[in-house]
Amino acid sequence: MQEVEQTSTLNPQIKDAAIKYVRKLFSQAGDSDLIRTLKKESFKHIYKKMIVEPDEFLPQPRPADVAPWDGMRPEGPRDFLKSKVVLPSLPQVLVEIQKVISDPDSSADDLAEIINKDPKLVAAILRLANSAMYSFRTEVDTPSRAVALLGFKQASSLALGTVSLSLFKRSSETQVLNIEKFWKHCIACGVIAQEIAKEAGYKDTERFFVGGMLHDIGLYVVFESNRSLALELSDYASKDDNSLYDAELDLLGFDHASLGGVIIKDWNFPKSLVLAAAGHHNPMIAKSDPDAGIIHVADFIARAMGYDLGLSSVLGVLDHEIYESFGLTSESFVNMIPEVQKLIEEIFEILNPA
Ligand SMILES: [Fe+2]
Repeated sequence: MQEVEQTSTLNPQIKDAAIKYVRKLFSQAGDSDLIRTLKKESFKHIYKKMIVEPDEFLPQPRPADVAPWDGMRPEGPRDFLKSKVVLPSLPQVLVEIQKVISDPDSSADDLAEIINKDPKLVAAILRLANSAMYSFRTEVDTPSRAVALLGFKQASSLALGTVSLSLFKRSSETQVLNIEKFWKHCIACGVIAQEIAKEAGYKDTERFFVGGMLHDIGLYVVFESNRSLALELSDYASKDDNSLYDAELDLLGFDHASLGGVIIKDWNFPKSLVLAAAGHHNPMIAKSDPDAGIIHVADFIARAMGYDLGLSSVLGVLDHEIYESFGLTSESFVNMIPEVQKLIEEIFEILNPA
């Protein structure tokens, strides 16, 4: 792999191990300028991680208290949801924000009023409005001011995204899904999606941020609902070069993306969010819908940059036609890296539900 670091100061053994790891990670990804650039980024991250957190690369012992999966395949996402699942409960504030968004007569004041009722939301919105994501000249000190400066659409999407992340709770029951990695992955996907959408010339790019925050809700539900199944999926994904998506299709017969689409649709969320979740691993939907396509690309990039869930050693497929359709090149990606990394860390600090 000539494209990786050429510095002679690297430890040769760790360098070789990192190159091998990155090769496997990208084994289904194909080849292009963007993929080569992503490999370089991934190598930097993996090399550093192999030094700082070597335990992350050791095989994890299977928890003794987990029964083997019963192998019962649901007939599809709907059937799965009929079984005993851990479904995040929809907070009232989310329902109210949704109502305001879908009512053409609602005003900025209506939105500020809803935000004002929830002190945690007020704090998060004010911190977001004062963050590097926006460069307002004056300090934003009230939700009304935040809504006025951000605009109704941006403010409502940010509020929706903020409350969405709080749906994913830390559970002491399971160690299969590392919830902090999950939160960071959602934020990274949201931030990268928003940047790609800006690059592609879309307006109201906050909807892509929310799409990223919610895209893996189906994965959260699968992993939190059935620990035996979760372990089976992660075991399957860590052997024979399978991605987690392959594991789901082979074992369950459907993937978390289609499950997520069903959940978000049942909540009567905007169609753009349904498609973003349902289509982020489905090239057919991702090719025909920009929300699904942008989340598909952002999800891959986020995982390649190290904002992954640690559940699979293969990233899966990146549809080249899709990212090219958004004008994303390796140069534009390289230009966005520093800003994107700064934003992800900053938003994680602001929104971290812990
Ligand atoms: Fe996903």
